Amino acid sequence: MEKGWIHPDLEDFFSSEMNRRDFLKSAGKVAMFALGFTLFNPLPDIPLQAAPRFSLYPFTLGVASGDPLPDSVVLWTRLATDPLNGGGYPPYNIPVKWEIAEDERFQRVVQTGTTVARPELGHSVHVDVNGLKPGHEYWYRFKSGSEISPVGRTKTAPSPQSRLTDFTFAFASCQQFEHGYYTAYRHMAREDLDLVVHLGDYIYEYGPHRYIASGGNIRKHHGRETKTLADYRNRYAQYRSDEDLKAAHANFPWLVVWDDHEVQNNYAAQMPERGRGGKDFLRRRAAAYQAYYEHMPLRRSSLPIGPDMRLYRRFTFGDLVEFNLLDTRQYRDNQVSNAKWSPPGMRSTAQNRSILGQKQEQWLMEGLKHSRARWNLLAQQVFFSQRVWREGNQRLLNMDTWDGYAASRHRLLQFLAQEKISNPVVITGDVHSSWACDLKTDFGDHRSETVGVEFVGTSITSGGDGSDTLRSARRMLRDNPHIRFFNNRRGYVRCRLTRNYCLTDYRVVPYVSRPHAPIVTRASFAVEHGKPGIQTAGTFDR
Ligand SMILES: [Fe+2]
Repeated sequence: MEKGWIHPDLEDFFSSEMNRRDFLKSAGKVAMFALGFTLFNPLPDIPLQAAPRFSLYPFTLGVASGDPLPDSVVLWTRLATDPLNGGGYPPYNIPVKWEIAEDERFQRVVQTGTTVARPELGHSVHVDVNGLKPGHEYWYRFKSGSEISPVGRTKTAPSPQSRLTDFTFAFASCQQFEHGYYTAYRHMAREDLDLVVHLGDYIYEYGPHRYIASGGNIRKHHGRETKTLADYRNRYAQYRSDEDLKAAHANFPWLVVWDDHEVQNNYAAQMPERGRGGKDFLRRRAAAYQAYYEHMPLRRSSLPIGPDMRLYRRFTFGDLVEFNLLDTRQYRDNQVSNAKWSPPGMRSTAQNRSILGQKQEQWLMEGLKHSRARWNLLAQQVFFSQRVWREGNQRLLNMDTWDGYAASRHRLLQFLAQEKISNPVVITGDVHSSWACDLKTDFGDHRSETVGVEFVGTSITSGGDGSDTLRSARRMLRDNPHIRFFNNRRGYVRCRLTRNYCLTDYRVVPYVSRPHAPIVTRASFAVEHGKPGIQTAGTFDR
């Protein structure tokens, strides 16, 4: 047995984060349990099952870490012996031990503790470990009963006061399980990254084969369209059972934000895709948000309260980069024209229209104004730059994206220009294809000021194998000169930030309908510090 775990006896339980009083109560319960009495833990009305014995392995969903700060990181797991059918646990609190070390073999354990996997949170575990060293690599694992989880690797953020010269992250989105294998994640797991950012559509809510990839589906959703907490839990569990996804989670800390499919396609705040919003939809949103929290390495500050959940937040890595993670779903005004491609009109261009909501917009601008980072990232869901589709004399815009919230975008672009925000970089998911754009203060005038760049990442699987290009995209690039690149393969984006450059590689796989696809860098772009706009494009390797 590897060093680090003390023998799983009650002494170990005692040395946990639970206090002595709780321990004494629990110890009493262990004895009672052995005698067949009903157990009750210090939390009201929830039985505790101490020293559980498992006939099946409980760590089927792997481990994860996220929301790294200079002195802390969140460690995650969820106990599930029967992941697709409610998890397989009785409604007891289960103690779960954790430990974090400075080495992979757990020779230098720096902290251990015991937390509780609660039935009301689907037996998920979120440990907010404090007192860690900044910019430091750690390894962690969990233990329940006699079972030990896989080992995860994570990294704290460097102190915001420190001078940082290099930071590499990858971002991904849109992983319809039925549409393909998560091979891109297998490749991502092998990269040398400080961080992974997920931009939403982590799950899709549809029933089996309700959303078919162009080349057909190769896997099948378990269960019906997700509507209840139980449905959403089972769906996350199915996605999280994937070995490639588990490997990407285990190897890096993640920052996550959702898009629409974590609840329902194209929902907007309290409005469902179709029909009028009401209590039923809010109930569904509450269930979806809770399941999201349960399956992501998020801090307690993101714990949902009914149908509300604080997901927008900020992370700083040295003096080099600051991430503003945005939520463009929970607070947005309802889409115009049912979120379809439509000509801009009075409603879509109304001055008071917002995709962020007033509070988040203010929070974003305040943060950007006070940022001391060289690169300022806006990690968010839907296409930010303008995309005009010409149809005869008509100019059509996608009303689900920032194009449907022109005033919101205008306010932000003006702000970036006026406040001279250092190197704004927008990163985006949602569209299942790769794009790179210059951010213009007036997208209608190509000579207007460029204030930053947008990198739009493709899907992990959604849409199926894809293609190198599309005829429609060639037309789109011709009519929108600020858009510099398009590709329709699956994959992710790797981004390396240095003092002087932001270097972006579009990593794509030739197919997802079969396993084991190789990966290539389809395109690379450089942005130079202090010179907004994509400066070089090319260097394709195959
Ligand atoms: Fe998607």
